Amino acid sequence: MKITVVGAGNVGATCADVLASREVANEIILLDIKEGFAEGKALDIWQTAPINQYDSRTIGSTNDYTTTKDSDVVVITSGLPRKPGMSRDDLIATNAGIVKTVTENIVAQSPNAIIIVVSNPLDVMTYCAYLNAKTDSKKVFGMAGILDTARYRAFLATELNVSPKDIQAVLMGGHGDTMVPLPRYTTVSGIPVTELIAEDKLNEIIERTKFGGGEIVKLLGTSAWYAPGAAAAQMVEAIVRDQKRIFPVCAWLQGEYGLNDIYLGVPVVLGKNGIEKIIELQLNDAEKALLTESAEAVKSVMDVLDNMNANA
Ligand code: LAC
Repeated sequence: MKITVVGAGNVGATCADVLASREVANEIILLDIKEGFAEGKALDIWQTAPINQYDSRTIGSTNDYTTTKDSDVVVITSGLPRKPGMSRDDLIATNAGIVKTVTENIVAQSPNAIIIVVSNPLDVMTYCAYLNAKTDSKKVFGMAGILDTARYRAFLATELNVSPKDIQAVLMGGHGDTMVPLPRYTTVSGIPVTELIAEDKLNEIIERTKFGGGEIVKLLGTSAWYAPGAAAAQMVEAIVRDQKRIFPVCAWLQGEYGLNDIYLGVPVVLGKNGIEKIIELQLNDAEKALLTESAEAVKSVMDVLDNMNANA
């Protein structure tokens, strides 16, 4: 198995580190455009192998895509992160060009690779990769739902003073302020969360989750990386080990949830073929309305990309 992570910034390097330490693949290529950067990070990661007791080899490359040849899974993290005061959508002009070039280079070397996009604005950059990969939509999807759900689960674990392992949740919609956490589908070891927490407290946690990325940008002056990197690695692991895990993933919708031609977060089954199934929940009217609102927000940014492409 060969995995490539494009972008050796904080998110990409964290993802490679998690993949290596969990021995998800024997070969992990870390590629970056900045001279020596990926080589340095890869060497540092490889030097944790004797300490952390694993064999997976991480190899760095300065923009030499031939090193990525025949990758099974590729994670694209390239692009600028947010700075305080920026929305994810503010990044579109810069990051669309980067994601397009990266995708073309990746597909030229690994036409059958499964591509996971992490760059922001997430839903639209996933669409951008799909347009340029010219491959099956089941093999091009985005990481956001695992991260957003992880934030929601972590906040709940703190509030309830229970293990985060015991909190199951699903969250839908775009990776932005309109994301849709679903309390009706949130349980604590099978117990509906609403039996354990007051409604106003739960609503507070839902609001905090929606702005969870921004909370970290405000604290750090740049966007998060430990949880985003680990979330992307978890998706790679589900694919490589053919785990058939159910995760919220940014997927291309063709009629599911009554939505067409849009990349949006929905629960899917992830396995060796990429997205093996999109799960359609029986949403109630209020949940449907929130999902529609989120889809409209994502669609308006997808239109910005389409107009940029039309005028290019
Ligand atoms: C976040 C970025 C990675 O939510 O979008 O932290």
